[in-house]
Amino acid sequence: MSRYSLTKSWQNTPVAARIIRLFLGVTFIYGGWNKATDAGFLDPASAHYIGAQITGYLTTSPISFILKQILEHATLFGWLIMLSEFAIGFATLAGIALELASVGGFALSITLWLSATWSVKPYFLGSDTAYAVLWLALFFLVRQNTKGKRVTALLPDLTDRREIFRLAGVAAASVVAALAGSRFRTATPTPEAGSSIIKLADFPVGSAQGFVANDGTPSVLFRTKAGLFAYSRICTHQGCTVGYDAKAKLLICPCHGSEFDPMKEGSPISGPTKIPLPKINVAIKGANIVQI
Ligand code: FES
Repeated sequence: MSRYSLTKSWQNTPVAARIIRLFLGVTFIYGGWNKATDAGFLDPASAHYIGAQITGYLTTSPISFILKQILEHATLFGWLIMLSEFAIGFATLAGIALELASVGGFALSITLWLSATWSVKPYFLGSDTAYAVLWLALFFLVRQNTKGKRVTALLPDLTDRREIFRLAGVAAASVVAALAGSRFRTATPTPEAGSSIIKLADFPVGSAQGFVANDGTPSVLFRTKAGLFAYSRICTHQGCTVGYDAKAKLLICPCHGSEFDPMKEGSPISGPTKIPLPKINVAIKGANIVQI
C-alpha cells in the first residue's frame, strides 16, 4: 500500500516542477472559483452564460461540430468544466494522482485553445497554449524524483483503498468549493429606474463616459448627433471589461482583443466573440441623463 504524504509529494518533486505545480494548481482553483461565483455563468438569460460563450466560438473553432453537440447540454458542460478545474487544481496542489491531473489539465487547456482562444492572433496573446505546454512539462517532470528516477504511476492505484479515499476527497472538495462559490454570487439587484447618470449640460454631443449601471455593471455612455446610447462594458467573450479607444472609436477588450463598434449597436467587428455588447437603456429626463 502506498503511503501518502503531502510534504513528501512536494519534496520528491524537482524545483522546476514545484513552481509550475503551485502556479497551475492555484490558477485552476481560481478559474473554478471565478465560474462558481459568476452569477451569469450558468444562467441562460445572461450574456456570460456558458452556452452564449460556446455559441460565440462556433464560427471560428475547428471543433465547432463538437461544440454544437455540447451546446445542447451547455449548463451541464459548464458544471463539468467548473468541477474539473477545481478537481485538477486541488489534486495538483495536494499531489494526489498528479500525473492524471496533469493529463486532465493538458486536455482542458487544449479544448479551451481549440474553442475559446483559437481565433486569437497572434497565438501568444491567448493563454491556453501556454497552459497546455506547462501541463505537459509538469507531466514529464513529476515522472521523475529529484534524483531523476521515475517514481509515480500514470494511473492511480484503484486497488488501494486509501488512494480511492484520496480521490473521493478531491471530488468532494471540488463539489464543496463549487457550492460555496454559488453562495458568494453577487445577487443582481432590481434596477432602480430613473437614477441620474450625468447632467445633460455636462455631456455634449461627441462625448463618451464610463458609468456604473444600476445593477452594478460597468457601462459606457455615448452622445452623438443620432442620440444617446449606452452599453455594458462586460466583454461577451469571457467577461473582461472593455475600454473605449477614442482614437479608433471602438470598445476594445484587453484580454483577447475583441473589438466592438459602439456606433453599430455594440456589434463585434473582430476577436473571438460574435455577440454584441448588451445595451443599457438611457434617456433624457429633465436636465439629466438617466438609466431607464
Ligand atoms: S474576454 Fe476574451 S476578448 Fe474579451
